Amino acid sequence: MKVLGLSGSLRRDSLNSTLLRAAAAELGDDVEFVVFDGLGALPPYSEEIDVQDVAEPVRVLREAIAAADALVIATPEYNGSVPGQLKNAVDWASRPFGASSLKGKPVAVIGASMSPYGAKWAQADLRRVVGIAGAAPLERDLPVGSAHVAFDADGRLVDDGLRAGLAEELAELRRAVTTADVAA
Ligand code: FNR
Repeated sequence: MKVLGLSGSLRRDSLNSTLLRAAAAELGDDVEFVVFDGLGALPPYSEEIDVQDVAEPVRVLREAIAAADALVIATPEYNGSVPGQLKNAVDWASRPFGASSLKGKPVAVIGASMSPYGAKWAQADLRRVVGIAGAAPLERDLPVGSAHVAFDADGRLVDDGLRAGLAEELAELRRAVTTADVAA
């Protein structure tokens, strides 16, 4: 099973990137976990440059999604929703219309913020947005609040309930991939 991970933050010390690494560790060695780190290189979406020969970072994104069985996306929250750079990536990935690499792809949404709410509005919005883009988001997410104190020195979630929630969400992602394989 191959899983593509995206952190919606461009920050070097991003707490969402830490959360994404915790998800990769939880998935275990039988999963090939690939991180897409080209979010900042994507041009702002425009239909005028969404042509046959798209920009290289867009091609790389679309191919990485196509090559994955499932996605894990860790989103920060900016002003109550998904950061622009992540929404931009979803917009690029949603095309070509009808032939998007996101089509039917199981997506686990997780997210962290320094507020107690844990980017819960961004996660709800992201699940809606990737669903409209054609993917198959899980119906759950994982708000990690007060994220600046949520991880230990090894990047593990300190809270037992959050660790269990992450494990359950990723187990559900595995089941979604298996179901998709059977249906194909
Ligand atoms: C934020 N932050 C924030 N947090 C939150 O819980 N709800 C929000 O609406 C916002 N809005 C917001 C807007 C902008 C422009 C910034 C820069 C920040 C705080 C944000 O969650 C915090 O900086 C996280 O640590 C960002 O995630 P990374 O970069 O650590 O992954």
